[in-house]
Amino acid sequence: MLDVSVLESMSQLATVCLWTTCIGSALLGLWSAISLLHHVRLARTIGLPFVILPFWLLGGPWQLAQFIVVPVLKALPERLTRNWLPLLLFNEFWHNGYEPFQRLQADTFVAVSPGGLILYTCDPDVNVQLFRDGNFGKPAELLSILNVFGPTITGTDGPESRLYRKITAPFFSEKTLRRVFVQSVSAAKILLAALLRPDAHHQLRTLSARVSLNTLSQITFSYQTDADLVQALAFQDNIPDGKTLSFSQALHGLLENLGVIFIVPRWLLRLTPFRSLQHATACYSELGSYMNQLRGAREAALSEKSSSSTHSDEDLLNLLIQAGASSNDHGKPVLTNAQVIGQIFLFMFAGHEANANLLVSIILLLACHPQIQHTMQRDLDHLLGQTSPDTWSYDDHYSALMHGTVGAVINETLRLFTVIPVLPKCVPPGGPWLSITVKGQRHPLPPGTIALVNTSATHRHPEHWPKRPADVDQANNSSSWSDTRNDTRQRPHAAADFDPWRWLDAASAEATQTGPGSTKFFKPRAGTFIPFSDGSRGCLGKRFALVEVCAMVATLFKTHSVELVTDSKQGVDGEEEAWLEARRRAALALSEGTKFDTSLRVARAVPIRFVSRRD
Ligand code: HEM
Repeated sequence: MLDVSVLESMSQLATVCLWTTCIGSALLGLWSAISLLHHVRLARTIGLPFVILPFWLLGGPWQLAQFIVVPVLKALPERLTRNWLPLLLFNEFWHNGYEPFQRLQADTFVAVSPGGLILYTCDPDVNVQLFRDGNFGKPAELLSILNVFGPTITGTDGPESRLYRKITAPFFSEKTLRRVFVQSVSAAKILLAALLRPDAHHQLRTLSARVSLNTLSQITFSYQTDADLVQALAFQDNIPDGKTLSFSQALHGLLENLGVIFIVPRWLLRLTPFRSLQHATACYSELGSYMNQLRGAREAALSEKSSSSTHSDEDLLNLLIQAGASSNDHGKPVLTNAQVIGQIFLFMFAGHEANANLLVSIILLLACHPQIQHTMQRDLDHLLGQTSPDTWSYDDHYSALMHGTVGAVINETLRLFTVIPVLPKCVPPGGPWLSITVKGQRHPLPPGTIALVNTSATHRHPEHWPKRPADVDQANNSSSWSDTRNDTRQRPHAAADFDPWRWLDAASAEATQTGPGSTKFFKPRAGTFIPFSDGSRGCLGKRFALVEVCAMVATLFKTHSVELVTDSKQGVDGEEEAWLEARRRAALALSEGTKFDTSLRVARAVPIRFVSRRD
């Protein structure tokens, strides 16, 4: 029997807990109401249209609660939520495209919540101001997830990120681009052999990621070889003594678990009994070990001046190690060990993931658009003749390829698959108010305001990127896409909207229709095409990425074509029906099956096959 006094104490404890919860909730409610009123007042001074949101998009509570709250909110009648709920669905920003802006009839507006103010924009003029006015900062804390090994160029702001850019920018020279082109041709030949294996489509993304990582490692760190790539693509990775994971297994495993590694304290991860967390921890520590070995070996080679690699004299790793070894005016190293390792990790991540995702999107889009693929191949024949890929070069071929159908396909894919659908900027907290000009009117923004440049909406803005459905279907000589356009799961209709011809000068319509050899190329207005961001925090690897993808697309498609695998059906009508069904399935993977985590990627496998060209 329990003592009466114990029961009394328990009941008192329960009462205290209840009161604490009630008072806590009341205080939280009061704080939220006061904060919201304060932020509404601030929003009024800005003078732009504003929407009230019940949650702070960027706060921890919403990030955790959304998995429960969102399904409930989505179950409500749409008219109650349609103007504000999409603004809280970070992972659906790409899918929603221009719709939220269309509904509010504003290309720039403010979302007000108890947590603060967020400016949403897809207005090219505002984009340009946010990118190019150096007074706007980057909310580095939002990207600090990338600082798991040490501070990085992306997860910092101000003088610190400027220092990292200054040290690494000289690497992205014409000399490097020449090497990128040659290495990418070589890597694509190895990739093609892997893609010709039966059922390779199940591993399309993994194969692309491994190819891109190997290319980056060879060029940037003089690490890994073509032989390593052959093994990696055969899933027979080389695992050195003392390790349990290969380099790519460690890096890709870590990227899949980056959130866990960021949130859970390391000591807790080491004690965890859960296998998935143990795997995440192993990836983290083994990748750390690979990077430290890379750094140690290069330090030793540099100090002995006995590096046998000709490339390592000029690679990015040298620039970082040298900055770690030299001193600044205060006698301190320009970069600490953690800063060197932080940048190595950042470049390993930023330098390959987006390229791999872009290549996958291109392959799948071309499978859905055989006519475009065919025209691109004729363009390749025109530009490259019967020459061997080993003779192709950056100086002789890159510019011509990028001004023809290959460039049009790459740019159009970048337009529709904005690898990073939202680019965050901010008015630095604690600094002065900053102004933006919208349609000729100045609007002051208070310190701490976050600005989200929505690349998905910018790239679908009806004024700057009008749809040309009739032209598209005619130029593609393909069946109309009406079967997918009415399906909401197909939002944002990237496969149907794929229209590379818009990049080839409209004035040369004939050249566009016959395809090959067009040298006039559409130049978008500033702020309307921003897949690599822009300004002082724009992508450092933009040209690296374009050269790599260009060389890979040329190599893959010069001799081979990609096809959708169709279910067998009898007769001409049956074949047509089967093909349309396969295309619908692929288009669904390129919409509903596309996810945004560290970057935008097609997460669903699409049955495709590579075959020798038939024409
Ligand atoms: C298709 C491929 C790529 C795309 C679409 C892409 C896109 C971007 C974008 C949009 C940003 C700005 C991110 C932000 O503001 O938050 C960025 C930053 C960056 N990118 Fe890329 N990128 C690609 C490939 C590469 C490659 C190949 C490298 C290096 C070899 C690279 C290195 C970087 C770095 C270092 C930054 C950070 C710049 C800074 O914060 O100052 N990227 N990239």
